Amino acid sequence: MKSYSIALIPGDGIGRDVTEAAWQVLSTVARHSGFTLAGTPFPWSCAFYKETGQMMPADGIETLRRFDAILLGAVGWPAEVPDSVSLHGLLLPIRKAFVQYANIRPHRLLPGVEGPLKARNFDILCIRENTEGEYSGAGGRVHQGTADEVAVETSIFTRAGVERILRFGFERARARRGKLASVTKSNAQKYSMVFWDEITQKLASEYADVEVTSYHIDAMAARMVMAPESLDVVVASNLFGDILTDLGAAIQGGLGFAASANINPDRAAPSMFEPVHGSAPDIARLGIANPIAAIWSGALMLEHLGETRAAQTLMGALEKATARGIGTVGGKDRTEAITAAVLAALD
Ligand code: NAD
Ligand code: IPM
Ligand code: MN
Repeated sequence: MKSYSIALIPGDGIGRDVTEAAWQVLSTVARHSGFTLAGTPFPWSCAFYKETGQMMPADGIETLRRFDAILLGAVGWPAEVPDSVSLHGLLLPIRKAFVQYANIRPHRLLPGVEGPLKARNFDILCIRENTEGEYSGAGGRVHQGTADEVAVETSIFTRAGVERILRFGFERARARRGKLASVTKSNAQKYSMVFWDEITQKLASEYADVEVTSYHIDAMAARMVMAPESLDVVVASNLFGDILTDLGAAIQGGLGFAASANINPDRAAPSMFEPVHGSAPDIARLGIANPIAAIWSGALMLEHLGETRAAQTLMGALEKATARGIGTVGGKDRTEAITAAVLAALD
């Protein structure tokens, strides 16, 4: 029987609850579909940091490299470990080391889910650059703590990096409704963002079948609220994509619904699947985290592994559960009840 090795990193806070839920659903789908998911759990988290002084062991990346995929919950427990330490010690190094340059985040309403908008018929695929740009980590501070202090953080945009993410976006647009929105702020940022716009234009001539529009990030934020149906594939830089996808989550009913896939399109290293949301310290330990984003991320993982039928089965069960009203009514359903409803819909 075919078997896939999956590294499980539940992380912190509700990351643990939602990963547990997603794993239950994924294991069941695999059993029904005739393959095995062999999960290896890793305790890497802020609690692990408190014990060991590291978010993951020094050979953590090499350990993860041999897996077929990584399923992650959420990282961060700011009350005890600064986010600048925890995220730069675990999540962000994985994205960069494994060249997971495409972060794919679908935004649409599942059946039965009431979003905050009148618009219901939107289906947006956000594609976020995931390894450079504003998240390059180039910078420093001098004269720290004095009145003369200076902090610099430089965005780095490379031709190779911008071209590959845009190309990825064009290919996805071609496979969907043929529309690509490229998001920048080239009216204010005259080097990196003009560079991005130019590369968009250059590629547009290669993809004559794709309708390309460039938007400024501010206008795109408004468009996602006012006219989300007008959008198909949206490509943005690391930081812009981060912000737009919490907005995307909001219009699809909340952070508990937004899934994501950190993809290495060349398959030279494992890809990582995780919800868009974080560890939600405000609701951790209450048993009320919505696991739908994590479960949906699991479906994206199955798709990436080539188990397309199983991914469709999983999404079908998820949609059946939400159509029945589970997980959608004012956040009243508990994590366990939502998970049970999805499992029941699988039978
Ligand atoms: P967050 O996404 O954790 O929470 C934002 C709000 O959404 C909170 O009110 C929370 O209760 C709610 N929420 C989030 N997920 C939910 C779910 N599944 N069900 C119901 N409600 C949900 O963002 P934050 O509060 O800014 O960050 C908390 C911590 O998580 C920080 O340490 C942050 O750095 C980290 N973080 C990690 C990731 C990640 O690992 N990918 C992503 C975002 C934030
Ligand atoms: C996300 C998160 C991360 C990001 C944080 C936790 C570093 O917000 O995955 O959207 O900004 O990429
Ligand atoms: Mn984010």
